[in-house]
Amino acid sequence: MKFFIDTANLAEIQEAQDMGILDGVTTNPSLMAKEGIAGTDRVMAHYKAICDIVDGDVSAEVISTDFEGMVREGELLAALDPKIVVKIPMIKEGVKAIRYFSDQGIKTNCTLIFSAGQALLAAKAGATYVSPFIGRLDDISTDGMALIESIRLIFDNYGFETEILAASVRHSMHIIQCAEIGADVMTGPLSAIHALLKHPLTDIGLEKFLADHKKANS
Ligand code: E4P
Repeated sequence: MKFFIDTANLAEIQEAQDMGILDGVTTNPSLMAKEGIAGTDRVMAHYKAICDIVDGDVSAEVISTDFEGMVREGELLAALDPKIVVKIPMIKEGVKAIRYFSDQGIKTNCTLIFSAGQALLAAKAGATYVSPFIGRLDDISTDGMALIESIRLIFDNYGFETEILAASVRHSMHIIQCAEIGADVMTGPLSAIHALLKHPLTDIGLEKFLADHKKANS
């Protein structure tokens, strides 16, 4: 399973990259706003800065909701760097734009997926990735992980090449469950990736190894 980090924070992206486990980055307009990045020139420069840090795909989201606007924005984004994946919302105009970009050989990530039917539609249009939002479903007492299972089954039934990018990951158990189900990619915050590191027996074991070594060598 590929690990993407879900942030526009350059320091966090660099930290994950330095760990040697990072396969890509996802951003969205809220994450860009959180970093105080506004205005087309700054937004574009920020995406370029992200691409300069990571080796893998970088999802950059369009703001337009009409086909022509999405195409215009997406083409500008895609021209920035070969790592850019144009992120497009799951709306009718978005499906048309995904088909357009797919025919042009430009990678897309269909975002705001909350049902298997939406994922199927995006895959039919040729999306590179679909992003089902696990955490936001869990937030409304709906099983986000069941959606990942359902999409996995459908894509496997028909051999769709579209990758399942489990998004809105909130904690380490989401990551583990995604890996069990067979999501192709997960995108989550650095905190969820850090949480995978932790086990109290690791800390206790290391402390003992170091103490024993010290005793034997003093
Ligand atoms: C990523 O592609 C999504 O935009 C993101 O994972 C949404 O996460 P949130 O539900 O924590 O905002």
